[in-house]
Amino acid sequence: MTSDNQPGKSTDNIQSLPDRFVVAIDGPAGSGKSTMAKLLANRLDMVNIDTGAMYRAVTAIMLDAGLDPSDENAAETATSAITLHFEKSKDGQKTIVNGADFTARIRRPDVDSSVSVVSAHPGVRKRLVDIQRQMGASGRVVMEGRDIGSHVFPDADVKFYLGASDHTRAKRRVKDLTAQGAAITEESTLAGIRDRDRLDSQRATSPLVKPEGAVEMDTSDLTIDAAMEKMLETIFCKINRRSGGPVKS
Ligand code: DC
Repeated sequence: MTSDNQPGKSTDNIQSLPDRFVVAIDGPAGSGKSTMAKLLANRLDMVNIDTGAMYRAVTAIMLDAGLDPSDENAAETATSAITLHFEKSKDGQKTIVNGADFTARIRRPDVDSSVSVVSAHPGVRKRLVDIQRQMGASGRVVMEGRDIGSHVFPDADVKFYLGASDHTRAKRRVKDLTAQGAAITEESTLAGIRDRDRLDSQRATSPLVKPEGAVEMDTSDLTIDAAMEKMLETIFCKINRRSGGPVKS
């Protein structure tokens, strides 16, 4: 997605957001979830929770300790011992793991290739889902991941399911990683993305699915502003309907 720098058309009114409000955004890697969750949370002054960063954090801790990502017991032990929180900074949101800044570490290619294995362990998922539910129990939260609308918050106020073509998703990933100085090809990135899609959607516990009631959006040819506009319209339409107010077109 690209930004066309046009101001949003929505006359969204943050004051009309209820005190507790959960927006769930699910979708595969590179579908634009993180970009949209971040922007939406900023725009609506909501807390942004990147659940993928949590699975990545456990993976990084295991790899740094020389543990095998497929070792379920080791993964559960690492997850139980972890302390994790997100911190706002002028460069965006930081992921703090066991007191250290893991923001860059969790985006490295070694984490990319092992995170689907770690996130398939039921014990890891159970512990992280507990934390996610605590984080979203009160307040206004935009939570993004693979199972938010289907499992973590099936009663989320608004659910989105984002998708994009494989090639678009690979291109986005190459752009992100190249900006970080990595030397990678689109071909290997595409293969990695397809591998992760397969593992994430075929695992036994809470696989990636389009949640019931989710608004589906293909972001392949959408600008960021157009995607934002659609999401804001969906959210405020829902709020207006609930409060019996005018429904925005
Ligand atoms: O969104 P991401 O690429 O940062 O996610 C990394 C991995 O974490 C992804 O391959 C699957 C897993 N994940 C998950 O299983 N459930 C979530 N709610 C979020 C991510």
